Amino acid sequence: MDEKELKQQLGRRAVDDFVRSGMRVGLGTGSTAVHAVRRLAEKLNSGELDSVACVVTSSQTEMECEDLGVPIYSLNHAHIGGMLDVTIDGADEIEPSGSLCKGGGGALTLEKIVAYNSKQVVIVAEERKYVAELGKTFPISVEVVREARVTATRALEGMGGSVTLRMAQRKMGPVITDNGCIILDTLFARSFDAVALERELNAVPGVLENGLFTGRQYIVYLAKPDGSLRVLE
Ligand code: A5P
Repeated sequence: MDEKELKQQLGRRAVDDFVRSGMRVGLGTGSTAVHAVRRLAEKLNSGELDSVACVVTSSQTEMECEDLGVPIYSLNHAHIGGMLDVTIDGADEIEPSGSLCKGGGGALTLEKIVAYNSKQVVIVAEERKYVAELGKTFPISVEVVREARVTATRALEGMGGSVTLRMAQRKMGPVITDNGCIILDTLFARSFDAVALERELNAVPGVLENGLFTGRQYIVYLAKPDGSLRVLE
């Protein structure tokens, strides 16, 4: 199977296995999670599912839902009450401890709020994203307020990070996130404890959030190149 087919299979399978009528559902961001949105729209439009209330994690997912007629709510809406039954999202890297690295699509802050406030989180990713250690080849995304670009870069370098400001494509200047911030992509050559580093990064003044997700257990669907699925719980 090619990459697109694998991602499509993952997104569809997660919806089929975990989303039921009446649920409050968190919808992730990225080229894999978008297939879950499309599958959900298909099932809502055919009547196979009903009364599903969704919360999106980015403007990408918001637009996809709008175009497909998927009903979306704020996480603060009384019907949602800041708690979701299930969230389906992608990941950049997953390590054996179960910790994740996310934010390749720049939506890490809302993705983390949604994931940390869901009863179940299903992560859908290709097998190649299952790595021995996070942050060695795929950088950790650190979302930072614009005024702290220089100071936060210095602080991250002081922690042993190698920092690159994420630049926009087809627009001059940096990526500006849905929250009006910039992203410092940070690689760590040294080994680190993901739980501790998640906290340390967020303690840097000006850091809004970082892409290490260690605060909960995930159900991980990994797709192998032949299309078969490995489930990690
Ligand atoms: C978005 O900010 C990310 O966390 C994505 O979920 C992650 O980058 C995986 O994206 P793909 O499914 O497009 O690889």
